Amino acid sequence: MLSLLARTVPTCGWGRACPALLVKSGVGVGPVGGAVGPVGCLLEGTGRRSMVVVPEGLPKLPVPPLKTTFERYLAALEPLLSPEEMEHTRDLVAEFLTSGVGDRLQKSLERRARKTENWLCDYWLQYYLDSRMPVAMYTSPGVVLPRMHFQDRQGQMRFAAKLIAGVLSFKKMLDNDTLPVQHLRGKPLCMDQYYHVLSSCRLPGPKKDTVVNYAISSTPPRHITVVHNFQFFVLDVYTSDGSPLAVDQIYMQLEKIWNSSLQTNKEPIGLLTSQHRNTWGKAYSNLIKDKTNKESVRAIERSIFTVCLDAPLPRVSDELYHSRVAAQMLHGGGSRWNSGNRWFDKTLQFIIGEDGSCGLTYEHAPTEGPPIMYLVDYVVEYMKRTTLPRAPMIPLSMPVKLRFNITPEIKKDIEKAKQNMNIMVQELDVRAFIFSEFGKDVIKSHKVSPDGFVQMAMQLAYYRMYKECCSTYESASLRMFRLGRTETIRSTSLDSFAFVKAMDDPNKQNSEKIELLEKAIKAHRVYADLAVNGQAIDRHLLGLKMQAIEDLTSMPDIFMDTAYAVAEHFNLYTSQVGSETDCVMCLGPLVPDGYGVCYNPMASHINFAITAFNSCEETNATRYSRDLQRALADMKTLLDTQNI
Ligand code: COA
Repeated sequence: MLSLLARTVPTCGWGRACPALLVKSGVGVGPVGGAVGPVGCLLEGTGRRSMVVVPEGLPKLPVPPLKTTFERYLAALEPLLSPEEMEHTRDLVAEFLTSGVGDRLQKSLERRARKTENWLCDYWLQYYLDSRMPVAMYTSPGVVLPRMHFQDRQGQMRFAAKLIAGVLSFKKMLDNDTLPVQHLRGKPLCMDQYYHVLSSCRLPGPKKDTVVNYAISSTPPRHITVVHNFQFFVLDVYTSDGSPLAVDQIYMQLEKIWNSSLQTNKEPIGLLTSQHRNTWGKAYSNLIKDKTNKESVRAIERSIFTVCLDAPLPRVSDELYHSRVAAQMLHGGGSRWNSGNRWFDKTLQFIIGEDGSCGLTYEHAPTEGPPIMYLVDYVVEYMKRTTLPRAPMIPLSMPVKLRFNITPEIKKDIEKAKQNMNIMVQELDVRAFIFSEFGKDVIKSHKVSPDGFVQMAMQLAYYRMYKECCSTYESASLRMFRLGRTETIRSTSLDSFAFVKAMDDPNKQNSEKIELLEKAIKAHRVYADLAVNGQAIDRHLLGLKMQAIEDLTSMPDIFMDTAYAVAEHFNLYTSQVGSETDCVMCLGPLVPDGYGVCYNPMASHINFAITAFNSCEETNATRYSRDLQRALADMKTLLDTQNI
């Protein structure tokens, strides 16, 4: 279980304003209205006293040894660079390590690690908050939940009511500090991210954004926001005695919301949040000049979470259904459909369509996928309960519709947002599908890691398409450490490259191919272990670079090197986000000529979602999906030959 550790000074990387530490720490925080932390974590706090909640004995994230990181950096570059380029980069690395520059930056980073709870977490948050790209499609993932079989509004409302009750039941565990500690490979994980999922929101700024956590307030929110036909409502989900509304009560409130938002000609104000962050930052300050608008915006931002009741989308074939829902979760389908039925800055938005489509999207700055999936698993189980709490049918007040005064300037901003969103929607190619030939049980029966197997299939599919390999990013959890976020597993290695080249080589025997495949999967596993244990290279390199920026010294040549740009250009941006629920996460590509690939290996099938940009002639999500399925099947056939 969780241990409660009193702290006097929150020294996590979020600085004095870390929501988790302040919610749970014995520290008074700033005045009502908020205090801004060094990286823009803004609090609405009033000096509530509490405790840090972390599993007992959770270690701090280490700073890996400098020399080891650069040996691994050179090894990671080998399959990506020519011998001449490698030679040049080796010289730069040697210079960095022997000139004293590397040692100086390493010492600064180690000092930072001693002084903070986690040397990385505010850099990581800053990475998200500094990004000026729209959050929709570019950084916010979507999650496609299993298709529901309601076909009308009653079904939609009943489902939404149960889901809301499930999330409130989950919230109770957070409020009571009874959330069970999760484990990875037998070790306890930091549960901090869970405290950032609900009641929080990203706020746009003209140059950088902030994240606000309203749970840390003398008056934490008691409402969610519901949006239907682009109209936002405040729905109080607690009664005056503090108990959550029962499913039937929520259902009745949703009915009222539905009936008072039948007009479909409303301005899609939520579309503003889909804009480039600088554009939205400007539009935001203009929008909240008006008092009514400001109050409405605050109500959305302060809410526990948002529920988007979506209009049905045009029907598609069963084959394309998952892809269509994945797109709906990532961007809403454009201004004509449901993109205006969102507040993309909100950390958590559940999306429920009248046609049975459902899922969610979340803003990535405060949290990663696994806590979201754990919440999803909990809610899905909750919804299966046959006896849900009932309540006396006392009349409840009408949910408040949020008003917006649309000035000509705001109207212009919305029109611009419509145009941009429609371009973005056209730009994203999404393919979500179920690979049904086998799942992780079959892979395990071959005594290899399912994750490594899937990653090697991605390598093979990529090589078959491009006859080369590329920088590959796979997310690994750093939650074995206090306030841990993620590290990168570099799935492309000399071993993976050797395997993909051999796979279609007619001169190679199956036995040799199997040996190479097993070696490549083992190499991946070794790197994955390094990553989850805080010994991989990418966050360390980021830390050293950030130290150079903070020290105001010139940027070391290794970071100006083309090889570094190649290493950071992740054509394959991948993530395994596992869950008990038969669902899949989806995310956009990281680079213009890349793919975003998410997968959820289930016992007997694997769910995938693949994205690419249509404007890039070299990429094609449909083709890559086909090649990936072929690669998976071919690799299994290869392993099967072992048993003949
Ligand atoms: N033989 C048989 N079984 C094996 C095996 C082998 N050689 N190697 C692994 N397995 C088993 C494991 O024991 C495990 O069993 P379980 O299903 O009973 O738990 C299962 O196969 C899965 O293991 P594997 O496929 O190797 O992956 P993993 O579960 O260890 O996950 C990561 C690897 C990197 C995905 C995980 O450590 C992680 O960090 N996840 C979080 C990623 C993240 O944060 N994503 C979100 C970003 S927004």
